[in-house]
Amino acid sequence: MPDLLIQRGHVVLPDGARQADIAVSGGRIESISKPGQRLSAGNFGRVLDATGMVVLPGAIDVHVHFRVPGGERKEDWESGSMAALAGGVTTVLDMPNTAPPTTTLQALEDKRHRIAPQARVNWGLFMGATADNLDEVKRARNIAGLKIYMGSTTGGLLLYQDAPLENIFEHYSGLIAVHAEDEQIIRANSLAFQESVDPLVHGRIRTITSARRATERAIGLARRFGRPVHICHMSTAEELDIVTDTRQYGVTCEVTPHHLVLNEQAVVEIGTLAKMNPPLRFREDNDALWAGLADGRVDCVATDHAPHLLAEKMGGYWEAPSGVPGVQHMLPILLDGVHFGRLTLERVAHATAQRPAELFGIRGKGRIEVGYDADLVLASMGDAHPVRLRDVLSRCGWTPYEGMNLYGWPEVTILGGEVVYDRGKFPTVVRGSEVTF
Ligand code: DOR
Ligand code: ZN
Repeated sequence: MPDLLIQRGHVVLPDGARQADIAVSGGRIESISKPGQRLSAGNFGRVLDATGMVVLPGAIDVHVHFRVPGGERKEDWESGSMAALAGGVTTVLDMPNTAPPTTTLQALEDKRHRIAPQARVNWGLFMGATADNLDEVKRARNIAGLKIYMGSTTGGLLLYQDAPLENIFEHYSGLIAVHAEDEQIIRANSLAFQESVDPLVHGRIRTITSARRATERAIGLARRFGRPVHICHMSTAEELDIVTDTRQYGVTCEVTPHHLVLNEQAVVEIGTLAKMNPPLRFREDNDALWAGLADGRVDCVATDHAPHLLAEKMGGYWEAPSGVPGVQHMLPILLDGVHFGRLTLERVAHATAQRPAELFGIRGKGRIEVGYDADLVLASMGDAHPVRLRDVLSRCGWTPYEGMNLYGWPEVTILGGEVVYDRGKFPTVVRGSEVTF
């Protein structure tokens, strides 16, 4: 007997959204009703009525910081997973700037051992680049790719000198993901602004030019050595133009929800809570990134979910660490964008699931298609609800989106065919699996 039938949802399939029933068996999608037809409800273990709801592939967030090991007071995989599931995110790729950083095979295995018993979403790991760990990275099995921090940020990972960067692009054939901010510009501007304590100074230090220069440099290296490169958390219209012009060489990119919906006005309103790297920019950048997302020049949306405790964030401009949580609110923000006509449901599914799976080569995920894993989200699009502090599940306990009134919320999240989140509750605990790249 198949395990689960999801009836009458508005299902976002790879070739477009339409009404369909979905049968799930053994954790996979077993069948999808043909247009105009129904699957009979007679012989299923469980039937979910998705009338009036949108059914999307579970989101794959390719950029989270779940802080294990070393930052568990800010987040761990229990709290991070629950925030993810409530946000319709069923797979996450975790970044290497933990403590210790994921730069050795030993650190990688240690992280796997810590995560495996805690994760309630599916997961994969990046390794981080140092000046001398390429041989080790090449021996790692089943990683998302290699992350290069060209500009300094939370954690000590940093690599911006020509020689080691050239060495990586010349000799690493896996996916290279880049934090593209120019370290020399950041340092020079930090000195110039060292007397200032206004949080707005963040954007004057980590300028649009610094993002553009580093993006150009990374793409230049990628082209020189014939490698694809993935630009993380693109924050400006200028970077989008560069990536657009070089897409044919295998350049891909992601944007964060915060760079879509927040700008310097948020820094004025919530100060260092809105401090992150790269910084918030301007209204024109929001608009350009939305447009790029809508027409497919932006490959994926990823959260850069980077929780820090409120006490830390309130420490004054220079003391406050950079980063905001986001994994719980990415889909609501995008579905709100659908409500207001900024993009289509198909684009949401593509940018949050199908494209991330393709880009990173994640097996069996990212599409509502027969044979694919039954990681699914049922979302309601009817009414607006405010983002409330008391609903925040990240251990950090706050969100930069507090008070935003959003249309489009995940109601039910399904992981491997099991209902793991249901309107504020977590009815079954299912352990997530490490994905296969
Ligand atoms: O704002 C950020 N926070 N940007 C990063 O690149 C890292 C992240 C963190 O880990 O806190
Ligand atoms: Zn990050």
